[in-house]
Amino acid sequence: MIEIRGLSKHFKDVIAVDDISFTADSGEVVGLLGENGAGKTTALRMIATMLKPTSGTAEVSGFDLIKEAAMVRSQIGILFGGEVGLYDRLSARENIKYFADLNNMDSNMAHDNIERLAKLLDMEEYIDRRVGKFSRGMKQKVAIARSIVHNPSVMLFDEPTTGLDVTSSKIVQEFILQCQRENKAIIFSSHSMQEVEKLCSRIVIIHKGKIVEDGTIENLKGKYNSDLEEVFMKLVGEN
Ligand SMILES: Nc1ncnc2c1ncn2[C@@H]1O[C@H](COP(=O)(O)OP(=O)(O)O)[C@@H](O)[C@H]1O
Ligand SMILES: [Mg+2]
Repeated sequence: MIEIRGLSKHFKDVIAVDDISFTADSGEVVGLLGENGAGKTTALRMIATMLKPTSGTAEVSGFDLIKEAAMVRSQIGILFGGEVGLYDRLSARENIKYFADLNNMDSNMAHDNIERLAKLLDMEEYIDRRVGKFSRGMKQKVAIARSIVHNPSVMLFDEPTTGLDVTSSKIVQEFILQCQRENKAIIFSSHSMQEVEKLCSRIVIIHKGKIVEDGTIENLKGKYNSDLEEVFMKLVGEN
């Protein structure tokens, strides 16, 4: 479970994230929805301990983001959109193993997890081949396996399907639902309403660094008596 409490980030005079608070329970996919520049990536990078908050904190699976950053880091898996950043000269297995080592994973456990993930993601045929010549979809699977090899209880996805073709997008979406079935707490940022409607149980709408709505999709549609796109436009449209 993730509980975000009053998290803010200032870059000099830019307030990128402004006192946000929300939670994501185990088994819940929370959609962080906002336009470009709304503060989604900054928020997720703070939760992932990649960026120090200006103020506020979060509790991740019982650990405090500020006081127990290393423990928080071990609980979190991250999949960002765009280039997946693998080592071309290493095999798929070596890429994943390298990441497991960075997370101080026991070698036997890492080996078992890689075997399991290779099967789950249908990568057995090419797990020991160098990733240099892999298709985008194959690389995406390696990135997925790498993000989860250390058994995190929380998953963060930052616009993970941006720039992907239909096949690769489907792989990522299926993976998100698999994480939900495994009862992980999930935050998933997107600017695509369709994707959010398909995957999320709840959405948090962020605009200019501030949370402007938080609720289930059904609640929000009822409250504004409109579809999700109209809800979004009403909240972030004019200003
Ligand atoms: N390292 C940085 N230095 C200065 N400003 C930044 C930095 N990172 C993000 N910002 C600013 O913070 C705001 C939020 O950015 P970001 O979190 O990337 O939004 P989103 O992911 O929703 O598109 C933007 O105004 C952006 O220009
Ligand atoms: Mg972003």
